[in-house]
Amino acid sequence: MPCRSCGAEVTQFLDLGLQPLANAFRRADDTSAEFRLRLRSMVCDGCKVVQLAEPGPAERMFHAGYPFRTSSSARMSAHFTATAERLVAGLTTPDPFVVEIGSNDGTMLAAIADRGIRHLGIDPAASMVREAISRGVNARVDWFDAATAARTRNEFGPADIIYAANTICHIPDLHTVFKGLETLLYDGGVVIFEGPYLGDVLRLVSFDQIYDEHFYLFSATAVARIANLHGFALVDVEHLDVHGGELRYTLARDGRAPSPDVATVIATEDREGQHSLARLEVFAAEVVARRARLRDVLVEEHRSGRRVAGYAATGKSTTVLNYCGIGPDLLPVIYDTTPEKQGLVTPGSHIPVEPFPTDFGAYPDTFLLFGWNHTDEILAKERKFIDRGGRWIRYVPDVRIG
Ligand code: TYD
Repeated sequence: MPCRSCGAEVTQFLDLGLQPLANAFRRADDTSAEFRLRLRSMVCDGCKVVQLAEPGPAERMFHAGYPFRTSSSARMSAHFTATAERLVAGLTTPDPFVVEIGSNDGTMLAAIADRGIRHLGIDPAASMVREAISRGVNARVDWFDAATAARTRNEFGPADIIYAANTICHIPDLHTVFKGLETLLYDGGVVIFEGPYLGDVLRLVSFDQIYDEHFYLFSATAVARIANLHGFALVDVEHLDVHGGELRYTLARDGRAPSPDVATVIATEDREGQHSLARLEVFAAEVVARRARLRDVLVEEHRSGRRVAGYAATGKSTTVLNYCGIGPDLLPVIYDTTPEKQGLVTPGSHIPVEPFPTDFGAYPDTFLLFGWNHTDEILAKERKFIDRGGRWIRYVPDVRIG
C-alpha cells in the first residue's frame, strides 16, 4: 500500500482494530449498523509521515451536524485569540487577507474580524459555519481544495496567511491541499498550521490521538519533506502546549531562511528515532499494556462499589472506549458540556452522554478523565469534587488513580 502523501512504501506498526467514527454520536434508539473503520497506523519509508491505512468517508465525518466545537474549552479559546494576535503581527501588506481552513465556530477568525481585517473561513460543517457567521465572521460551507482556492482567489485576491488548526491532518489527499495553497497564497505569504505532534504521542503514549479524523500524525521531519515535494519549505516550527502537545508549522515559498528551530526539532526527532520502526513498535507495545491496565483499574473501581463517570465525551474517547472494550457496564455515563452530544450515546460503545449534574449530590465518586488535554482547566473547575475526595482515573501519561 503506497503512502497517501508521497507514494513510497508504508509499514504498519499498530492495529487498533475496527473502530466507529470518533464523532458519530447517535441516538440510543438508533439500531442501524454503525460504520466502522480498521484503525491501523503506518509509517512511510519515504516522507516519514505517520498515517492511517485507510481514510474514513469525509462526508460522514464532517457533516452539517458535526459536533466538535472549538469554544468548548476556555483554554482553547484563549489560545486562538492569542493566535489571531500573532497572525495579525505578521501581516505586512496594506489590505491583507487571512484564510482559515477548518474555521469551525469562528473562535480564531472572530478576533481577526474584530480588527476589521479581510478574512474568510472555509469549513464543511454547516452548523459551525452558521455559528461563526453569528459571531461576525465571514465563513462558508465548503471543502478546501484547488477549485475552492481558485474561487476564493478570484473573489478576494491572494491570501497573506492561510491558517489551519487540527485540520490539515484530517485531509488524506495532501496533493489537493497543496494545489489549493499554491493557488491561493500570495507569493510572499505563509501557510501556518498546527496539529497533534507525533513526538508527544510517543512520549505520552497518547494513543487516543489516533482516530479516523487524525489521518496524519505530523512531525517536523515529515512536514519538511512533504512541503519540499510541493514547492514549499518548512521555515518555522513551534511546540504548543495545547491538545496534548502540538507542533505549529510555518511554510513559505519565497526563499526565506528557516529559523534555527526547524533544524533543532528535526535533529531531536532523528536522535530519538521517532520515525524508526523499532521506536514505533515500542509505542505499540505500550499501547497494548495500557489497555489491560486501564481495564483493570476500572473493573476494580466498579467492584469496590464506586460510581464512575466519564469526564468529557471527546473524539479521542472513542478510541479508548472501543479499543479497551469499555461499555455502559463499566462506565454508565459520560458528562459533557456540548449540547450536540448530550442525550446521545457514544459511537460503538453506546454510553449515554449527559450534561454535568447541576446537583452536586449526583456527582460520581470517580471520574475517568477523557479530557486529559484540558486537565488544568478541568481541575480548576472541579475544586469542589476534588476537595470532597473525588477520584480521577487517568490514562495519559500513564494509567493511575487518585
Ligand atoms: P477535546 O479534547 O477538544 O476533544 P477531541 O478529542 O474531540 O478533540 O475536548 C472537547 C470535548 O470535551 C467537548 O465535547 C467538550 C468537552 N469538555 C467538557 O465537557 N468540559 C470541559 O471542561 C472541557 C474543557 C471540555
